[in-house]
Amino acid sequence: VKALGNLSVLRLISSEGLGMDVVSGGEIERCLAAGIAPGDIIFSGVAKSRAEVELGVRVGIGSFNIEAPHEVDLIQNVALASGKIVSVAIRFNPDIDGDTHDKINTGLAETKFGLNLDLAKKVAAEILSKPNLRLTGLTCHIGSQIFDMGQVRAAASRSREFASWALDQGAPLSHIDMGGGLAVAYSESDLARVPSFKDWIAAAKEALPNDKIALHVEPGRAIVADSGVLLTEVIDTKESGGKNFALCDAGMTELVRPAMYEAYHHIIRTSRRAGDLDIIYDVVGPVCETSCALGYDMRLQSLLKGDILAVLTSGAYGMSMASNYNSRPRPAEIAIDGEVTRVIRQRETLSSLWDSERIQ
Ligand SMILES: Cc1ncc(COP(=O)(O)O)c(C=O)c1O
Repeated sequence: VKALGNLSVLRLISSEGLGMDVVSGGEIERCLAAGIAPGDIIFSGVAKSRAEVELGVRVGIGSFNIEAPHEVDLIQNVALASGKIVSVAIRFNPDIDGDTHDKINTGLAETKFGLNLDLAKKVAAEILSKPNLRLTGLTCHIGSQIFDMGQVRAAASRSREFASWALDQGAPLSHIDMGGGLAVAYSESDLARVPSFKDWIAAAKEALPNDKIALHVEPGRAIVADSGVLLTEVIDTKESGGKNFALCDAGMTELVRPAMYEAYHHIIRTSRRAGDLDIIYDVVGPVCETSCALGYDMRLQSLLKGDILAVLTSGAYGMSMASNYNSRPRPAEIAIDGEVTRVIRQRETLSSLWDSERIQ
């Protein structure tokens, strides 16, 4: 849900038989608004609030992935007060380096995610002592944009050991969840090394201690990244400091990944003109930050005012991370199905940006 949460997209993905991995009460409500069955929702999150736990228990989500010791009492108390038995999984931290960008590397002990194995075992014992909790799963997630299946295998091996231990303690485990993270190709060089879904599943499957336990995975990026394209208009071009700048009407507010993770997105000019030369541009946006760019040193056919650029592979963590910085309304989302296009999110209006503000 965090990769691309548009209601139409969630509905489409759910119609293919997939469940939803959420990280907030807002994302639970978003799933419900899309018509997702509550039992198909699992909830990870390092700092779940009481209100979020109450919401999850009330609507009956499929599982809470516990990431901190205090969640055990919190979920037990809410479950008891509602007279419910609640399924929980432990998100443990395998201390494995996902070998990806620091800001999306989540499986190392020094990150905030999950419980280290010693603590995870203590928390498992506690859960097993609680009358309203069922420890039905174990989960880990070593990060996003993972190419190295060796690291997935290393995390799977730790999951399997932990699962065997938990089964010995009497945990009614039904699944091991190896999280998301399958990489996609943003560039030509990525294409040569991007793992197949099959190879990823083969590596993740090594987590299973026996064939009665199901494998769950939570891919976000790999489902939606390739399906999305950000279109932006060239306002004009200029030269400065020996560089050519393409000045665009979209930037970090529409696609923050280049500013936040130094991420590369392939960019192409959509209009065709004969006899054009390739020129190297920094493709930059309008936001008042030096980091507001869509790509640096991009080789593009020469640009004119009014050209439309397509920023590729923007479906994941694009619109879902868009912001209103600089009082910029977020753009429309258009679904394309063959020849048919549908507006699945209206362009935001300016006044909606300050509707909730009050002059005192
Ligand atoms: C717990 C969890 N599962 C799944 C995902 C999805 O990761 P990706 O989009 O890389 O597949 C994330 C992303 O951060 C996550 O934190």
